[in-house]
Amino acid sequence: MAGGVVVNGGGRRRYEGRVTGFVIVTCLVAATGGLIFGYDIGISGGVTSMDIFLERFFPAVYEAQKKATGENQYCKFNNEMLTLFTSSLYLAALIASFFASKVTKAFGRKMSMLLGGIVFLGGALLNGFAENVEMLICGRILLGIGIGFTNQSIPIYLSEMAPAQIRGALNIGFQMAITIGILAANLINYFALSMGEKGWRIALGLAGVPALIITIGALILPDTPNSLIDRGHQEQARDLLKKIRGTDNVNDEFDDLVDAYQKSKQVENPWKNIMKRHNRPQLTFAVIIPFFQQITGINVIMFYAPVLFKTIGFGNDASLMSALITGIVNVVATAVSIVCVDRFGRRALFIEGGLQMIVTQVIIGVVLGIKFGVTGTGTLNKDDANLVVALICMYVAAFAWSWGPLGWLVPSEIFPMETRSAGQSINVSVNMLFTFIIAQCFLRMLCVMKFGLFFFFAGFVVIMTLTVFFFLPETRNVPIEEMYGVWKAHWFWNKFIPDQMLGHHANKNVEKC
Ligand code: BGC
Repeated sequence: MAGGVVVNGGGRRRYEGRVTGFVIVTCLVAATGGLIFGYDIGISGGVTSMDIFLERFFPAVYEAQKKATGENQYCKFNNEMLTLFTSSLYLAALIASFFASKVTKAFGRKMSMLLGGIVFLGGALLNGFAENVEMLICGRILLGIGIGFTNQSIPIYLSEMAPAQIRGALNIGFQMAITIGILAANLINYFALSMGEKGWRIALGLAGVPALIITIGALILPDTPNSLIDRGHQEQARDLLKKIRGTDNVNDEFDDLVDAYQKSKQVENPWKNIMKRHNRPQLTFAVIIPFFQQITGINVIMFYAPVLFKTIGFGNDASLMSALITGIVNVVATAVSIVCVDRFGRRALFIEGGLQMIVTQVIIGVVLGIKFGVTGTGTLNKDDANLVVALICMYVAAFAWSWGPLGWLVPSEIFPMETRSAGQSINVSVNMLFTFIIAQCFLRMLCVMKFGLFFFFAGFVVIMTLTVFFFLPETRNVPIEEMYGVWKAHWFWNKFIPDQMLGHHANKNVEKC
């Protein structure tokens, strides 16, 4: 051991220090920001399947739904105004994440988290008290801005605070909070269903609770050492590092952070820099990971589970119950990834999850194809319906321990300091863009492609699993400011990384992938 550095089994470097209670609590508090995103994902599907809500704000959908009994099962709820309600949030988040990137870089991760919490709170109030569609949509835009800020800053916060050896687990706290938010929303939907007008108001307004949690959390959290150094507070950063690593000997990690900062200072404009050749691998993944995450089709289940279950023949109550079951599976399977991600690595989870999603989607497509055919008429008997729910659960579990958490973890850990904030906003915006496109198009796609929709998503999962297999290097256990070494050791990306990009320790610490 020298200068606070230990070299572990794989030849990779570890800084001295231990996993402190302080770093765990700090990361847990920051991760609660995922609750607002999750709550929102879960609540809209339930609210938009409540008759009283539809009758008041979307009368055309309500009428069409009443008439549709016994007709084409695939085309029941195809209405653009309704999907605009769900999707407006994602467009707002997409744009907001670019502003967030500036705030996060110039004023710190904490500031973006705080702003996100406050704006989201405003949106929750507007929705809870909505009198017309306009208020509803404005509220959702505020929610979207809030999410744009928190999703941009929190994954970076977590990846920077965490010691490298448990960075995956701590970062996945964010996805854990997302899934808990979705589950809470599903539960609230279930009870709200029987509460009449009050029901949807409570469901939408309660989004204020997680917003308060992250707002207060952001007020009390320290900023990350990386961001403190980046903003000229070196001594504060050193003290914080001692506290979060539980040792006074933080010289080596501190020097690496300062080294990363010195390099980052030479970069005037992160947006120009991110386009440069040496950032090509990171940029590529900041674009394709969120795209792939969404094209798994997960949000078809998350947004439309109640609608989807209704479509395939469950009653009102049964459909919300099934959504609850998928919600629980989602949380539990995310816990699995927390345990596995720093042990088996990101690639193993990506690949296993991908294979499991392919198999389950194909079987769902086949079952629905046999039962509803292309005309979309017919019903599922009890056994078939149970089979479909079981398959959906296996699919959700696969997503929840792979593309769900890793879609936030990997983009937040692969960029160097100078482009990390910009890179993460690209991740958020691509994620939101495709969440939007899928939310907007799903009902129409189901109507046109019918059971083939499941084959469509499965086809993409094949492509993405192969992409990970060939092109994504393993980032497990690598200190965040040493990532260039990972690309340098990769058979395809090495030619993009000139030697001078490597940190002064990196060369000795990289495993060949
Ligand atoms: C995704 C969301 C998805 C959620 C499901 C997140 O990682 O970004 O789009 O709804 O996981 O748990």
